[in-house]
Amino acid sequence: MPKPITLIVACAENRVIGRARRLPFDIPEDKAWFHAKTAGQTVVMGHICFETWPKAVADGRHPVVITRDPSLASDRVRVADNITEALAIAQTLPGEILICGGQRIYEETLPLADRLLLTLVHAEVPGDTWFPEWRHLSWREISRRESSDANYRYTFSELERVR
Ligand SMILES: NC(=O)c1ccc[n+]([C@@H]2O[C@H](COP(=O)([O-])OP(=O)(O)OC[C@H]3O[C@@H](n4cnc5c(N)ncnc54)[C@H](OP(=O)(O)O)[C@@H]3O)[C@@H](O)[C@H]2O)c1
Repeated sequence: MPKPITLIVACAENRVIGRARRLPFDIPEDKAWFHAKTAGQTVVMGHICFETWPKAVADGRHPVVITRDPSLASDRVRVADNITEALAIAQTLPGEILICGGQRIYEETLPLADRLLLTLVHAEVPGDTWFPEWRHLSWREISRRESSDANYRYTFSELERVR
């Protein structure tokens, strides 16, 4: 049995996920949640995400980076030049398979996703990278928790795809 594929994302109501290679919002509780969920797991991501996330190789994570640059490979980092190859490598590595973005990787893997770990930030924010529309697909909500800080209200949801 192949392992399930989970997308993990923090997304604004207008589906913005990034701005100028950074997150478009600074939400410490979400960052902590993201780090806790991905620790010890296999994390699949694009080149920019890998470069801007120093903890990709920390806390027992097993990164698979999608890039045309094979020089990124090391004893702790696997590389693949497309999604199909990245997912095949991820299936051989320990832990859950968590897809961590960015935009094109989310677009290509949403149709394959078994689960979505979504932090929906209840705001419209400016940005240059987007999560694909997911709300028209069928999902079962496994868990949901509302929270907020001084700047944002947000909801942590765990969704399971219904096919
Ligand atoms: N809010 C969130 O949860 C979240 C999550 C992730 C990212 N982000 C944000 O999103 C932005 C980064 O995402 P991004 O979409 O710009 O970049 P990205 O996906 O991290 O990296 C883009 C690069 O990855 C490689 N790549 C990506 N998709 C590929 C594919 N399908 N096939 C082959 N290679 C592929 C290419 O690298 P090469 O040029 O080396 O070949 C491409 O130039 C940042 O602002 C980040 O903060 C937010």
